[in-house]
Amino acid sequence: MITLLYLLAAVLFILGLRGLGSPRTARRGNQLAAVGMFVAVVVTVADIYDEPQVAWGVVIAGLVVGGAAGAWLALKVQMTAMPQLVAAFNGFGGGASALVAAMEVVRDPSIFTTEIAVVVVLSLLIGTITFSGSFVAYAKLQGLISGRPVALPGGPWFNAALGAATVAVGIWAVVTGDALAYWILTALAFVLGITGVIPIGGADMPVVISLLNSLSGVAAAMAGFVIGNQALIIGGALVGAAGLILTIQMSEAMNRSLANVLFSGFGGGTSGTEMSEQPVNRATPEDVAISLAYAERVMVVPGYGLAVAQAQHAVRDLANALEERGVTVEYAIHPVAGRMPGHMNVLLAEADVPYDQLLDLDHANPKFPMTDVALVVGANDVVNPSARDDPNSPIFGMPILEVDKARTVVVIKRSLSPGFAGIDNPLFYLDKTMMLFSDAKAGLENILTALEAL
Ligand code: TAP
Repeated sequence: MITLLYLLAAVLFILGLRGLGSPRTARRGNQLAAVGMFVAVVVTVADIYDEPQVAWGVVIAGLVVGGAAGAWLALKVQMTAMPQLVAAFNGFGGGASALVAAMEVVRDPSIFTTEIAVVVVLSLLIGTITFSGSFVAYAKLQGLISGRPVALPGGPWFNAALGAATVAVGIWAVVTGDALAYWILTALAFVLGITGVIPIGGADMPVVISLLNSLSGVAAAMAGFVIGNQALIIGGALVGAAGLILTIQMSEAMNRSLANVLFSGFGGGTSGTEMSEQPVNRATPEDVAISLAYAERVMVVPGYGLAVAQAQHAVRDLANALEERGVTVEYAIHPVAGRMPGHMNVLLAEADVPYDQLLDLDHANPKFPMTDVALVVGANDVVNPSARDDPNSPIFGMPILEVDKARTVVVIKRSLSPGFAGIDNPLFYLDKTMMLFSDAKAGLENILTALEAL
């Protein structure tokens, strides 16, 4: 019965993951996965009941405290703080897996078979790295420590040496079954988590968090082997694979290798960036309202600034007003617009923008030559033509939304400051581009007011 219910939980996890693949089915997917997790927890608790090893009060207290903390965090968190929440969850996941393995070490590591010793070592190692690494990522994103990359003495060699020492201690633990070796391994893994994440710039944290998410899954799967729990093995393997795929997709969408993200110290701030001295076409909200009112097709291109300004409702209100005038409005969504996967989709869904108006890169790009106005709201790197045209650009090769092929381009941002990549954007200086220097929300509201006055 227990095996069957674990299988049911696993099927629900898989269906849940599948559902998360599209905004339309994401809520349902999340619910299915939550039900799967509930089944897995209840079955595990029932399994303990069969052969009580822990006091019931402790089990129930764990469920109540964990459930309440999760619910409270989910209700309270701001959308823009979601990456750090995920980081914290990964950290707890890795820590929990490491604790499961640590319990076995506390009992008696000298009786481990080689197989068990290996999975205990891996669970401790990966779980502890995930734990400390995730909380460094959390601290960077939450602004508790500087988001800038911190260079270690010896650069990447520092971590290479520490990693080699950790592997050596891991082998010592497996071969001798000495508890001391396991604890030294845990301490080294803790330091490695910190020194692994500290050199990475705050802006690359979403990729790191996705990788740590994958690692937390691997640690859970290892812990599942340690205690012979199938739900943990399957759930962990799914998280490990899904996290890794997401990590690779994010790196590809930025046209950077994972090694470049982890070891290059990219995104260290934008000071010292040489901005072009060329003139731009400054526009007023009235100018923009006129070009939008006489357009047939408008493509909204949201970016990180939309999230910062929380302008999703304002953009939706403007789109409604344009649609009432007979203008066709669609949204072009770049896979790495914003700072986390699906950032724009989530914001626009919150403002009830219909899903069928959201176009991904491949569907949006062929439409720009037929677009009268491309309305770029707080996006920068994802519309930078030098990624396509300038082989010397640091982002050369990154796929972009080709807004420069639209008849007119309107860019709403506060200044000519660069985006995440810290580089200038030739789009701003084109004859066809109108720059509306404003906070995204205020700018959109002013355009709407001007449109209504026409
Ligand atoms: P960015 O290139 O980062 O540009 C955002 C722009 O928003 C800035 O130039 C800024 O200009 C403007 N802005 C900030 N606050 C604003 C406000 N209140 N109102 C209006 N504008 C505001 O954003 P993007 O085009 O979305 O590109 C995303 C970047 O992040 C890419 O380089 C991507 O590789 C990177 N990245 C993404 C992810 C994921 S998963 N999405 C993960 C890691 C890295 P002003 O200061 O002049 O206003």
